[in-house]
Amino acid sequence: MAKSKLKQIAIYGKGGIGKSTTTSNISAALVDAGYKVMQFGCDPKSDSTNTLRGGDYIPSVLDLLHENSRVDAHDAIFRGFGGVYCVEAGGPQPGVGCAGRGIIAAVQLLKQQDIFDELDLDYVIFDVLGDVVCGGFAVPIREGIAEHVFTISSADFMAIYAANNLFRGIQTYSNKGGALLGGVIANSINTDFQREILDDFVARTRTQVVEYVPRSLTVTQAELQGKTTIEAAPRSEQARIYRRLAQRIAEHTESTVPAPLSPQDLRSWSAGWADQLIEIERKSQHLAVAS
Ligand SMILES: Nc1ncnc2c1ncn2[C@@H]1O[C@H](COP(=O)(O)OP(=O)(O)OP(=O)(O)O)[C@@H](O)[C@H]1O
Ligand SMILES: [Mg+2]
Repeated sequence: MAKSKLKQIAIYGKGGIGKSTTTSNISAALVDAGYKVMQFGCDPKSDSTNTLRGGDYIPSVLDLLHENSRVDAHDAIFRGFGGVYCVEAGGPQPGVGCAGRGIIAAVQLLKQQDIFDELDLDYVIFDVLGDVVCGGFAVPIREGIAEHVFTISSADFMAIYAANNLFRGIQTYSNKGGALLGGVIANSINTDFQREILDDFVARTRTQVVEYVPRSLTVTQAELQGKTTIEAAPRSEQARIYRRLAQRIAEHTESTVPAPLSPQDLRSWSAGWADQLIEIERKSQHLAVAS
């Protein structure tokens, strides 16, 4: 059984929203702070841990299981920045099989071999592709693999739509011992109205924003070097924000059941914001003409 100090966290979000980038910076910040951390990529692309390893890809657990019937879990664990343990679950070939079964197989392999205890981990952070069109995405929530779920969202409607779908999944499994929601990590928030849109969404769904992360060139530069921002620009403002986010997640204990909006309510909510944005634009054009 896992030691009680071990905290298992899953990070979800729409494709391309910044899950792997943010998760890797959280992992890097936590190892920097002295914690023992494993980042567990649950994306069939197997690219979650790249920036923790200078841009290198690692073989996935499923790759190893396809090659050998008996796999030593240690062969699937690689060290990255600051000693962080990197694992990629891998996935089925495109169009064949279920990504969820792959995640279960990968987690089981590590648990059967008591890896979490052996490594004396403080945190395992699962980076989960969240908008696949099958129940597989719910595995870390449903199977008790994670305890706390965080979702990454920008103020874009499709990102909010994916977050709301995740809330529905969490709500569905909440009375069967599923993982609960820690909060929303707001990514690529650079204007006041983007912040207001997300604040309004979390208020209506009875959740909370854990941290506002701006879109930043520092992140782009670091990624081009195959590094996290924590490694490439440790004294930057962006690194300070990622450290604060990591600390908040480290200290987080009380997750809750979110209150997702119905599809109709989400539609009328977004239509209301469309009207407000048109008004904001009209006012700013009016001010520009007046000056
Ligand atoms: N705050 C940010 N500032 C600048 N660039 C960012 C930020 N967050 C993410 N990005 C960039 O957005 C792109 C997508 O990020 P990332 O790969 O982390 O997304 P993802 O959600 O893991 O995608 P996928 O669903 O494909 O796994 C990357 O090029 C990343 O550098
Ligand atoms: Mg990713």
